[in-house]
Amino acid sequence: MTRVLVLNGVNLGRLGSREPLIYGSTTHAELADLCVATGQEVGLEVEVRQTDDEAQMVGWVHEAADAGNPVVLNSAAWSHYSYALRDACSQLTAPLVEVHISQVHAREEFRHTSVISAVATATITGLGVEGYRAALRFLALA
Ligand code: DQA
Repeated sequence: MTRVLVLNGVNLGRLGSREPLIYGSTTHAELADLCVATGQEVGLEVEVRQTDDEAQMVGWVHEAADAGNPVVLNSAAWSHYSYALRDACSQLTAPLVEVHISQVHAREEFRHTSVISAVATATITGLGVEGYRAALRFLALA
């Protein structure tokens, strides 16, 4: 069974309480359960991780690169400036789906640019936590 890493970056551990009008009321634990359940529906082994530490995130992307695993990545604020994370993502050989819960293009200008998008297979933005389910359904077909 294909193993997929769902990696959530800085501040996403606070989902549920963090700006619910923008990010919704689903907690990170509930999001993780949703992703694992979606994986079971579509035949993927899904592991969900979250960190506020950029070096940790880069290490997890290296792990996926070495294992050849597909990745669903919400790199949160790092999306907008982390060339280190982008360089890690460009080492992936399996598909990478970038997900943003909010519609970043309808928000502040600094959110309109993602340095990750150019090395991602696809980007899903603005579908709320449904974006993760869409990403996993895509990966099951890829
Ligand atoms: C986010 C959007 C980013 O701009 C923001 O910094 C986040 C979350 C999203 O999921 O909508 O932390 O990636």
